[in-house]
Amino acid sequence: MNPIEYIESRRDANLADLVEFLRIPSISTKSEHKKDVERAARWVHQKLSAQFEHVETVATEGHPIVYAESTPVPGKPTVLFYGHYDVQPSEPDHLWTTPAFEPAVRNGNLYGRGTADDKGQVHIHLSAFEALKKIGGRLPVNVKVIIEGEEEVGGASLYTYVHENKQKLKADALVVSDTSMLGPGVPSVTYGLRGLCYYQIELTGPAQDLHSGVFGGAAPNPLTILTELFAKMHDKNFRVTVPGFYNDVAVQTRAERKALNSLPWKLAQFKKNVGAPGLAGEKGFSVIEQLWCRPTFELNGIWGGYMGEGAKTVIPSKAWAKFSTRLVPKQNPEKIVKAVEKHVRSLLPKTVTCDFKVLSSGKPWVAPYHHPFFAAAHRALEKGFGKKAVFIREGGSIPFVTDMYDTFKIPCILLGFGLPDENAHAPDEHLSLENYFGGIKAAAHFYQELAAI
Ligand code: BES
Ligand code: MN
Ligand code: MN
Repeated sequence: MNPIEYIESRRDANLADLVEFLRIPSISTKSEHKKDVERAARWVHQKLSAQFEHVETVATEGHPIVYAESTPVPGKPTVLFYGHYDVQPSEPDHLWTTPAFEPAVRNGNLYGRGTADDKGQVHIHLSAFEALKKIGGRLPVNVKVIIEGEEEVGGASLYTYVHENKQKLKADALVVSDTSMLGPGVPSVTYGLRGLCYYQIELTGPAQDLHSGVFGGAAPNPLTILTELFAKMHDKNFRVTVPGFYNDVAVQTRAERKALNSLPWKLAQFKKNVGAPGLAGEKGFSVIEQLWCRPTFELNGIWGGYMGEGAKTVIPSKAWAKFSTRLVPKQNPEKIVKAVEKHVRSLLPKTVTCDFKVLSSGKPWVAPYHHPFFAAAHRALEKGFGKKAVFIREGGSIPFVTDMYDTFKIPCILLGFGLPDENAHAPDEHLSLENYFGGIKAAAHFYQELAAI
């Protein structure tokens, strides 16, 4: 039996094992789930122990990091596989067809929180390792594994760990599966991600809530001021109005623009996924460019005042907003954060004060893909899926990838097995079973291909 036949024979067993992993509600942002997060780390540790010579769980100020190293195979490349076992909260729970932490199969998909992001994708590699080890007696290349529990909260523990353990983590390539394929039947290697800066502001006007009949007309209303502020953040071409925002944005070469715009990407499908009456985006760029190559400013949440049942005539004392900027190559997060804060403060009237917080900040990433490892990934995807593979960029952010690239300058190979409409971070998150099973084969082929270089 070869590893691919073994993988075929293990379909039900692998799926049952993934379901067990998914049942653990490892929600990193909620302190009430700290024990579950730890349980998920133990689950990963246990799972790795069967294939890896050395496995350790590293306690951090936040959530544990699970690290493993395979038995050395001299003369073969070393890859570092990265993933995260933490997940986003499941709310709003009533919008799930079946409960978020009770995985269920429906029409060829596995539903549950973490199926696509990222437990399902991590499990693809764990299953590939298992097959390679079972059949070959050892893994074909040197593998280091790092699975963290703070990705969804932009946690700092991993960053600290990497910089304190540079020698230990040294590898010839980073392998990550925490992204998506371009579309169904189009296996993809991602070579660019956007960066992310996340902000929260609190505006304070009156010292306490006021009766809007007694004070309205003369007292400043922080909620009104907040909405006026955000109304000024884009111009009529949907460009961000923060001065200097676009100064450092890298311009695509004509060749890259052409390559990206001729990918087998379907606008009609994208519109369907969005589900709005129309699209909104920066003028002068294709949708693909807007998503992958252009920076954005997004309002993520806004609150304050009375939000209960019925009416309450009140001028709120405070108003809040959460917002973020997605960054693209050559933009510098520190510069952008400064420019955004300056612009916000310059637009606010003197009638309110503003507490401005930066919750997280991560750099964008793009890299050339001519290293032979990329060709190996391309071949492995075609073998695993029996379909032509493509090179894409994406709009999401994985701070660890940028950090590893900047620190080690190694090829970062992002093999995404999710799909853009699989509801990551939303109700009814799912993973296509075809991509899960195809992914295991592709991952096994990939590690074998690397050994043959
Ligand atoms: N897996 C995603 C990142 C992603 C999603 C990359 C889609 C490419 C396509 C990751 O878990 C995530 O959600 N990242 C956050 C940033 C993080 C700092 C919270 C994001 O992109 O919003
Ligand atoms: Mn993820
Ligand atoms: Mn995520």
